[in-house]
Parts: sequence; structure tokens; C-alpha cells
Amino acid sequence: RKKVTLPALHTMYQRGEPITMLTAHDFPSAHVADQAGMDMVLVGDSLAMVAMGLEDTAEVLLDEMILHCRSVVRGARSAFVVADLPMGSYEVGPEQALQSAIRMVKEGRTHGVKLEGGVEVAGQIRRIVQAGIPVLAHVGLTPQRQNALGGFRVQGKTAEGAVRFWRDALAVQEAGAFGVVVEAVPAEVAGLVTRRLRIPTIGIGAGRGCSGQVLVQMDMLGNFPPGRFLPKFVKKFGDVWGEARRAVEAYRGEVKGGSYPGPEHTYPMAKGEYAEFER
Ligand code: KIV
Ligand code: NA
Repeated sequence: RKKVTLPALHTMYQRGEPITMLTAHDFPSAHVADQAGMDMVLVGDSLAMVAMGLEDTAEVLLDEMILHCRSVVRGARSAFVVADLPMGSYEVGPEQALQSAIRMVKEGRTHGVKLEGGVEVAGQIRRIVQAGIPVLAHVGLTPQRQNALGGFRVQGKTAEGAVRFWRDALAVQEAGAFGVVVEAVPAEVAGLVTRRLRIPTIGIGAGRGCSGQVLVQMDMLGNFPPGRFLPKFVKKFGDVWGEARRAVEAYRGEVKGGSYPGPEHTYPMAKGEYAEFER
């Protein structure tokens, strides 16, 4: 497969071909996303929860994101790889944001960075883009600000909220973002804004009217124990947890029951050597 570049993504956008993006947090999760044909791989800060078991994305450090990126980029050979700048690594101002973005691309070896926010982070986006690092913006529900937003709530439900969302999307476009993730926004709002922008929108919980879609890989694979809360927009395309658990239980059962390993899993000695060894 050919490497997916920024111009290739732009061509898909212009043709109206939906852009596919999936998160990855290590070599195997990147490898499967890439082999299955994802256009973009996102090292999302959701790895705080799905890969590190932390409570929320605010806890993950820039160094930890970089470490995960180093594994992801080795698995994602064709996809365009973008990583989240974690909370605290860009809010102080454009210089801090640029320093963090440079570390992400130099040490994490990603192609671009993503950061959350609209009007208030336009300066940061502009500064990073000026340095030649592609930026994917993220507006609507911005999980890093969940405490300020009052939790994980749909954004742009009211006319006033929808206008605020539109202003944010326009601000990140004008600042030079090559695309924008749109999270948890009513489908008709996301659709109208998508038609009015000239950069692709990558939706999550924002309906089919976006220019592309993104999901958290562990969620869409069903790679989590039963009983976990899932947002409405997640579709479980698999039952990877169920299959992994079945396999581990089967392994346990065969070891405890003495049927594994069988003769076919062992190495023979050279002919006649055992008799000599036994003496
Ligand atoms: O961290 C993440 O996985 C994300 C996507 C859900 C867009 O930001
Ligand atoms: Na994120």
C-alpha cells in the first residue's frame, strides 16, 4: 500500500470519499489498523484509559504519549499518523505548544499532532503549522476539558451552542489545521458545518455528514471486560475481549488438566541419544 500523505487525504476529501481513522496505542494495534487499510492512525490520549488503566485523559504525560508513538509508528507503515498533545502540554501558549509538537514528531516520530479546542487555541495551531507540523484540531466535546464542560456532554445542542461550535471550527480552519475532529455534536449541526468548511471533519458521535470517521480501537473491537460504559456512538464491530478470554481459559484448562503441551508441541532428541543419556 502507498503511504497516505496530506495531499492524498485532501484528494479523498475533495472526491467525497470518507476518510477512515482509528486509534492505536502500540505496535500490534497500529499494525492491524494499517493492514486493514485505515487512512489515518491516531495515537489518542484515550490510551490513558484503554492502555494504561488511568481514570481520565488528563493524567497521561507527554513523555508517555511519545513512548506509545514510538511503537505505533513502527506498525503503521502506510497510514498518516497523528498523536494527541496531552492536557498541559500546549495551553500555556504557542511556544509551549510548538515545543511539545516538535518533541512529538522528533521523538514520537508521528506525522502530525492533534490538540483540543477552538478559538482559544488558534494561536497554538498557527504557530505549530508555521513550523511545518500538520495539525488536526478537535472541537465539540473536548474530553481534556470535561470538568469545565460538566462531564461528557453533547455540544451544540442549542442554537447558541451550535454557533459557538461553528466559530470554533472556523477558527481552527483559519489557523491552518488540515482537518478537525468533531466529537459528540448533533448530526445536522456537524453536517452543515462540514459543508461550510474547506477542511475535512473527522466525526465521532457526529453522524454521517462528516468527511470521515474515527473510533477508539479498543471500543470498536469490543476489547474490554463486560459491564463497561460505552458512549452511544460506539459500535462494537467485534468481541475481541470474549475471544481473548476464551483462549486464555482454554490454555489454563489444558495446562491444569494435563493435555497441553501434547507430543506435537515437543522436540525429539537425536536417535539413540536418550538411552545413552539415561545411563
Ligand atoms: O483520544 C482519542 O482517542 C481521541 C479520539 C476519540 C478522537 O481523541
Ligand atoms: Na483524545
